[in-house]
Amino acid sequence: MGTARIVFDKWGGRYAERLSGVRSSAVRDLFAAASRPDMISFSGGMPEVSEVPAFAVAKAAREAVHEYGSQALQYGSSEGRLEIRVLVTELMAESGVRVVPDDVVVTAGAQQALDLLAKTFIDPGDVIITEGPTYLGALQAFSAYEPDVHCVPMDGDGMRMDLLEEELKRLGPRGAKFIYTIPNFHNPAGVTMTAERRRRLLELSREYDIPVVEDDPYGRLRFEGGHVKPLRALDDEVIYLGTFSKIFAPGLRLGWIVAPQPILAKVLLMKQGADLCGSAFAQVVAERYFRSTRWRRVLQTLTQTYAERRDAMLAALEEHFPPEARWTHPEGGFFVWVELPPYVDCANMLAEAVEHGVVFAPGDGFYPDGRGRNCMRLAFCFAKPEAIEEGIRRLGEVLEDRLELYRAFIAAGAIEGPERGAA
Ligand SMILES: Cc1ncc(COP(=O)(O)O)c(C=O)c1O
Repeated sequence: MGTARIVFDKWGGRYAERLSGVRSSAVRDLFAAASRPDMISFSGGMPEVSEVPAFAVAKAAREAVHEYGSQALQYGSSEGRLEIRVLVTELMAESGVRVVPDDVVVTAGAQQALDLLAKTFIDPGDVIITEGPTYLGALQAFSAYEPDVHCVPMDGDGMRMDLLEEELKRLGPRGAKFIYTIPNFHNPAGVTMTAERRRRLLELSREYDIPVVEDDPYGRLRFEGGHVKPLRALDDEVIYLGTFSKIFAPGLRLGWIVAPQPILAKVLLMKQGADLCGSAFAQVVAERYFRSTRWRRVLQTLTQTYAERRDAMLAALEEHFPPEARWTHPEGGFFVWVELPPYVDCANMLAEAVEHGVVFAPGDGFYPDGRGRNCMRLAFCFAKPEAIEEGIRRLGEVLEDRLELYRAFIAAGAIEGPERGAA
């Protein structure tokens, strides 16, 4: 990639209005600085692909060319190869979801599924409901179709159902096009929705006649605690998004949608407009990998690696972060969400953190409306434990500098501190 240049855009007046609602991410804007070799990155949710056995992928790719070449190198069906859809049904059965291959459409990662769903459901101005905060990539996918995004706050048990119900009552007959949720090891919040809340969510979905979109990239990456059944296991109307990115490799760009037939037919139409069909080559490689590798053992080792990194991050936060900070304790997945006093602006702190050799994702990117500035998402999936300890130490220093200044302001009565009820 070249260095960023400021270029006059001759076509500035020609772009579609919908682009005005799509924001780039603060971390991507700092991509060049954040890619320095000495940088410790807590910003991206990048899987540890080095633990995926290269020889097994090479073998799968060789087979794709030599044994399946006439299919793997050809256009495929829009819904994806039958073999991979069968594999998806088997994976889903292990999590308690019973589906048949016809219920599955293979997509270019769950990200494409988000875009196709948005394209299928959202007209400009339509309300959609998400958790607050929510996945930045979902906001990017949705915002291109100009929805009015309403965020429902979460606590340690996931989306607050009392607040969701209030929101649904407030919306009244206008309703919402869908409710988007990440129930397992939430991105960015790191929390998991309890079984009780899942049941309540489905009750509300039926009562108000609003479909639920369940995005579940991290469900199989559990470090502790018991498996909680997916929403789709409890209700056939749920639209479920899965991905091979975190259990195999994101570079293949393979994910899937499970949905009721009428929705799937519409999604398929949208998909044909987007790409005709997904990569048959990537699908064959994944099929061969899952059929001929001990992938469960690889996933177990990978999960163990993430658990060690989570432990390293939680220990380092305990040691190096100021007493004003609070953070979540994820039982799986990739992310810890940190909340600081409301007067701290994390987006504003990012450039300084990069100078100190550490990068994180500022919280406001995970809201559609500028909220979350006092929060940050820390991804523990990528850096090694020693680097995590060092990165959190550096970040703690940056924070301490800021907070010292604020503490002085608070002591002088210039701003309201938490002890006076600012939370
Ligand atoms: C919640 C969530 N949904 C979807 C995606 C997209 O995943 P994929 O690589 O399958 O496109 C991600 C990726 O990090 C994610 O965290």
